[in-house]
Amino acid sequence: MTDLIENIIPEKIPKHIAIIMDGNGRWANEKGQDRLFGHVSGVESVRETVKTGIELGVSYLTLYAFSTENWKRPKEEVDGIMDLLITSIANEIEEFNKNGVRLLTIGEINDLPKQCAKSLNNAIELTKENSKLTLILALNYSSKWEINQALKKIAFAVKKDDIAISEITEELIHQYLFTNSIPDPELLIRTGGEYRISNFLLWQIAYSELYFTEIQWPDFRRENLVLAIIEYQNRERRFGMLSSQIAL
Ligand code: IPE
Ligand code: IPE
Ligand code: MG
Repeated sequence: MTDLIENIIPEKIPKHIAIIMDGNGRWANEKGQDRLFGHVSGVESVRETVKTGIELGVSYLTLYAFSTENWKRPKEEVDGIMDLLITSIANEIEEFNKNGVRLLTIGEINDLPKQCAKSLNNAIELTKENSKLTLILALNYSSKWEINQALKKIAFAVKKDDIAISEITEELIHQYLFTNSIPDPELLIRTGGEYRISNFLLWQIAYSELYFTEIQWPDFRRENLVLAIIEYQNRERRFGMLSSQIAL
């Protein structure tokens, strides 16, 4: 059997892939299990996606793990997700270091439960020298909130005369986002069959290719990522131009 991966064009691998990991709860309920079982099972999909990303030469992988809106869920589920986060991070550090994975986060990490913030900050510190793949976990993240805090900081800098209004460019705005050290994703994947963005990276995905799949996150495997990349590579990214101009 030939590996699907042979259909990938190495020169056109997206540098940054962002994923809305959705469908854990429904996946578990379909199996007669509780929602938390779905979140626990989703950790294996994260592992496989990181490994495949490294194998393919992806430099940045951003995973939407917990939105600010997710606090509205039942306490039992929220607590379960936070505990899972702590244990998963602790379990993975060794593997991250072995595979050259640098961990970063976007979102208001310091408003997570103390133990959670502590284990994340610890993992960020312990993996900071790694350079194969940067894994960015979006946690307690909301894109509107991110843009709002950027606007406040820029307004403050203008008020202090540190920057002039004419200096507010797209590049400057980028500097005030959580993602200031990260290029915009070329490809955004959402699993779980919903066709929405759910407050994720609104600024950064202005020109990303969007890929939606019915696959629930706990079922997402290497071949699903490979298929998404193949589809991405078959898209024509015109950036407002004409096909004939792209071909030049
Ligand atoms: C995504 O799966 C994980 C989080 C939002 C934390 P869901 O928990 O949203 O699962 P569904 O969409 O209800 O199936
Ligand atoms: C988006 O999934 C957030 C994460 C994957 C962490 P949700 O399941 O929370 O999104 P909605 O509520 O269906 O839009
Ligand atoms: Mg969901």
